[in-house]
Amino acid sequence: MQNRSMKMLGVSAALVLGLTACSGGGAGSDGGDDAGGGDAAPEDMTVGVAMPTQTYERWLNDGASVEEGLEELGYTADLQFADDDIPTQQQQIDQMITQEYDALIIASIDGSALTSQLDAAAAADIPVISYDRLLTNSENVDFYVTFDNFAVGQEQANALLYGLGVFDENFEEADDAPEETLNVELFAGSLDDNNARFFWDGAMDVLEPYIEDGTLAVPSGQTTIEQAATQRWEQETAQERMENLLTSDYAGDEELHGVLSPADPLSRGIINALRSDGMGDTIEDGLPIVTGQDAEIASVSLIAEGVQHSTIFKDTRNLADEAVSAADAFLNGEEPEANDTESYDNGSAVIPSYLLPVEMILEENYEEILVESDFYTEEQVESGQQ
Ligand code: GAL
Repeated sequence: MQNRSMKMLGVSAALVLGLTACSGGGAGSDGGDDAGGGDAAPEDMTVGVAMPTQTYERWLNDGASVEEGLEELGYTADLQFADDDIPTQQQQIDQMITQEYDALIIASIDGSALTSQLDAAAAADIPVISYDRLLTNSENVDFYVTFDNFAVGQEQANALLYGLGVFDENFEEADDAPEETLNVELFAGSLDDNNARFFWDGAMDVLEPYIEDGTLAVPSGQTTIEQAATQRWEQETAQERMENLLTSDYAGDEELHGVLSPADPLSRGIINALRSDGMGDTIEDGLPIVTGQDAEIASVSLIAEGVQHSTIFKDTRNLADEAVSAADAFLNGEEPEANDTESYDNGSAVIPSYLLPVEMILEENYEEILVESDFYTEEQVESGQQ
């Protein structure tokens, strides 16, 4: 990466010195149609956008926003979804490289499965932006745009403790906290997604002291990320694990009070299992506190109905903007601006990153944060559909 950055500086210096009227010609244009000229306009450049799946609502929104942002700047965007299938994503990216695209924006399925694609992109001088999920085990990653993933986990845990009454509305220990030990179960995301560990570590950072002092108990004893993981973030897998936990650990009179869930589809699977087990239809009538992430419309609707307790809102419009600005910077021979150059070591290099903030969503603030900001309309929240 070092070499490439230096080469990019070289390219931009050449632009300044010799080719004064140029508008393009960043790292990627070396290997593209417009090779070597450095005089490519956005209209002549294509950015490949590789997204993991269409089954998660957020990736559809991300894909559409990135495509729109690139097109607004005049670039051509080639948006591809990979059905959560690693060989499909590898093939899509191989093709983008063969077609000499000018930059790549990649949200991986398995962050470590694209090293040969990243090598090929580097060899062709195509800058790579890792989108939301970190591409790992390769130094050929030029930039990373994401949210503050550790904070996501901390906020999930804060929301859980708030829902359980351990925290008050200021997220400080409540004076009237329940005296009994509260039973919780813990879910994590897919282990091949680097984010899953950040979410887990953030959540455990908050929860561990309360598990240690007996405020919380985990009756299943499953307290490691490996035990709690949900391969490929699948809703059915989470639902099945919740059903199994209910059978093995809650068949008697053991009560379950809360579930740490790392993402909304998993939360809905968990809620299905809890409801089928007769634990109540809403929180008011006994349904345990279930957290989430992504503010998917179906989950926001459940929050408005008092069923799912909380979620974490990540404004994907802003993430898409950051990715598009980063691509635009590279394609103009510049470096995008990082706000974190320490947290994201991908095993081969520390990747310069831009982290965006996140917000906790509860029944009492979804209108203000999601409806008043035009992320959703009230009708969408009511219907649960976008
Ligand atoms: C993570 C992402 C989350 C969630 C999850 C499942 O990498 O950061 O927002 O969408 O994947 O797709």
